[in-house]
Amino acid sequence: MASLTRPFVVRVPGDKSISHRALMFAALAEGESRVQGILESADVQSTAGVLRRLGVDVPELGPDIRVTGRGLRSLHAPREVLDCGNSGTTTRLMGGIVAGFPFEARFVGDESLSRRPMRRIAAPLRAMGASVELRDGDSLPMLVRGGALRSVSWESDRASAQVKSAVLLAGLVGGVEVSVAEPERSRDHTERMLAAQGAGIVIDELKVSLIPPAALAPLQLRVPADPSSAAFFGALAAMMPGRTVVLRYVCLNPTRTGFFDMLSAMGADVGVEHAREEGGEIVGDYVVTGAPLAGVTVGGAAVPAMIDELPLLACVASRAGGETRITGASELRVKESDRIAAVVSNLRTLGVDAEELPDGMIVRGSTQPLRGRIVTHGDHRLAMAFGVLGALPGNEIEVDDPRCAVVSFPGFWERLGEATRAFGD
Ligand code: S3P
Repeated sequence: MASLTRPFVVRVPGDKSISHRALMFAALAEGESRVQGILESADVQSTAGVLRRLGVDVPELGPDIRVTGRGLRSLHAPREVLDCGNSGTTTRLMGGIVAGFPFEARFVGDESLSRRPMRRIAAPLRAMGASVELRDGDSLPMLVRGGALRSVSWESDRASAQVKSAVLLAGLVGGVEVSVAEPERSRDHTERMLAAQGAGIVIDELKVSLIPPAALAPLQLRVPADPSSAAFFGALAAMMPGRTVVLRYVCLNPTRTGFFDMLSAMGADVGVEHAREEGGEIVGDYVVTGAPLAGVTVGGAAVPAMIDELPLLACVASRAGGETRITGASELRVKESDRIAAVVSNLRTLGVDAEELPDGMIVRGSTQPLRGRIVTHGDHRLAMAFGVLGALPGNEIEVDDPRCAVVSFPGFWERLGEATRAFGD
């Protein structure tokens, strides 16, 4: 479908997963790393804060920062607790790193993070020889006493990049070979970045092995835009027939592009321009034009490639013809909120026909105007997904806590205002 208005062109902030890893891996490298376009969000600030407490000289985050790493053995025992805020990635990846050091560190987090499961990383780290204590066996606070580690071949029972990365990073700092097998492929930024820094990474179908290097080379990185943040504007355009968004310099890593593939399967016109390889990742521009949408079925291997976008997909499904069925996504129950229960109850509040499944949900679309107040439970992705739905003409949706978007996307509401003005012209 041809564009009815001028396209809305936006470059959303840097990828969150890559930004966390950039700080951690720069800290463990030998020499000065340069990172451009890091995401300056609350979650990445949590990683910066934790690294500072471990003795790393992390500068204030900005568009072009340099971090001097002092090597794989350089972290110091923290004098204070490691506050991970709302960030699961900070907790689980730093948990793996700290497990390789001969000191004790106590990880804490906010209310949401304190409800999230941590046994999934404690189990492999214990198998490697670290001591990990958790409240009620599964929750923060988490006390890690690291030290000499042994090699492990871990069979993960879920596709989780955080679990996979915790094991790979423990092997990296512990100087022991490790491997992780998972049931489906999860995002692979850790593998790509560490390989670029000189670590031995061997991929054998769903199994990843790390052969630890003597040292990590510093990073020279331009962080591409986050596909999980770009998704909100792709969704908005997709739901408005004839409106076009151009999303610049997005990370097109195939473990992250599931949502855009699904928009295309629903009937939106989704194109990619200027795709190229940069710094071990594929980057390029998405061009999305809206069209009448139809419901889809999502499950299996497609789920990890769009895990953070499933709340948004459910919102898009509420405007698509027919039924959308999401299964195989029980991990949604242990994200920043129970995203199955929260998405379904909020959709129902708005008058949408939606139901929970143990591992997903069913949403039946309609064209009736949606009105009501959304309870986000402090979950950034819920706030933004329903914000997009509320930006459609005819809908009146109030989000109880819009500010929580700063966890992953500072400036989201301003960009959303610009997009709706552009699409209204
Ligand atoms: C992330 C992995 C995913 C994702 C999270 C970021 C990462 O979590 O949901 O937002 O950066 O490794 P899981 O590994 O728990 O699936």
